Amino acid sequence: MLLAIESSCDETAAAVVHDGVVLSGVVSSQVRLHAEYGGVVPELAVREHLRNLVPVVDETLRRAGVGSGDIRAVGATRGPGLPAALSAGYAAAQGFALALGLPLYGVHHHEGHLYSPWIEEVDGVVRVRWDQFEPNVSLIVSGGHTLLVHVSALGRHRVLGGTLDDAAGECFDKVAKLLGLPYPGGPVLDRFAEEGNPAAHSFPRPMIHGDDDEFSFSGLKTSVRTFLGRHPEVAEDPAKLRDLCAAVRAAIVDTLVTKTIRAARRMGVGCVTASGGVTCNRGLRRDLAVACGAEGLALRMSSPSYSTDNAAMIAVVAERRWKAGEPVDEPALEIGAGWSLDSLGR
Ligand code: KG4
Ligand code: ZN
Repeated sequence: MLLAIESSCDETAAAVVHDGVVLSGVVSSQVRLHAEYGGVVPELAVREHLRNLVPVVDETLRRAGVGSGDIRAVGATRGPGLPAALSAGYAAAQGFALALGLPLYGVHHHEGHLYSPWIEEVDGVVRVRWDQFEPNVSLIVSGGHTLLVHVSALGRHRVLGGTLDDAAGECFDKVAKLLGLPYPGGPVLDRFAEEGNPAAHSFPRPMIHGDDDEFSFSGLKTSVRTFLGRHPEVAEDPAKLRDLCAAVRAAIVDTLVTKTIRAARRMGVGCVTASGGVTCNRGLRRDLAVACGAEGLALRMSSPSYSTDNAAMIAVVAERRWKAGEPVDEPALEIGAGWSLDSLGR
């Protein structure tokens, strides 16, 4: 049985996993705290992690119906992320492992996201489906990251490309802020977009036709700002605002879907996966499903509970490494705030 901790940004999370079955998972989100500042404030995030880590771990053990003496290994996000936030969770995991004489596995946050689409609930049991794994191209889209990764086998991945500037979630949030919507704006913009007409405006789809797997979203935000400068009335009129949201969402989703499908075709895989907070986006879920269907590609998207940051995705990766007898973290190992996914398992 393994306990894992995740604290790379503004969620304090813990989970207990046993033989691939997620026995419990608790996520304490700080999103309301940071809303007043319009973004994550690192100092506040650390203070909250320090306050919440012990209660979150306690609650996770309680929900799993186990005590600390039942835990045989520990996992924790070691990077990338906000340095002080990572340190809080990783040091807590180090302390837990040291006190109980347990092996500790530091997990790459993106490796957690890469495999979160393989976590599913069947008949009330949440488990990771390693048995169903197949090589894939994986899209990780969150507030901090937009990455395309080729996962050729379990534990073997290569980053194909990523954003050159803003992440897709960041773009959703920044555009929403321009429109006066509350933080984090992504979900609100998505809700408004459902009721709007995406063809009402045409926004640029940067780099959509390029042969590479890079993205760029900062130009889209600038286009919206310019547009609003010329048409300030749009933000005040509910119907026009919804049309604008729909057009912005279409531009972001179209770019993500087109480039993901193209990468999957080029890498010759039969499966696409997607994870990260932006996979909660209804437009993305729909359009990616349609595009994969048309291409004969299997699609696995993380379920909403495992799309945003959580510790279950860290726990299943740590448990797989533990069961495979991989080396544990050295006691003096530090966090890797800028840790590259490409540095492991290629
Ligand atoms: O993965 P996540 O919880 O945190 C990061 O690691 O960044 O993702 C949060 C991001 C935010 O930018 C949020 O606006 C975006 O995911 N997001 C959405 C939706 N739900 C969350 N963006 C668009 N549509 C949504 N429905
Ligand atoms: Zn994340």
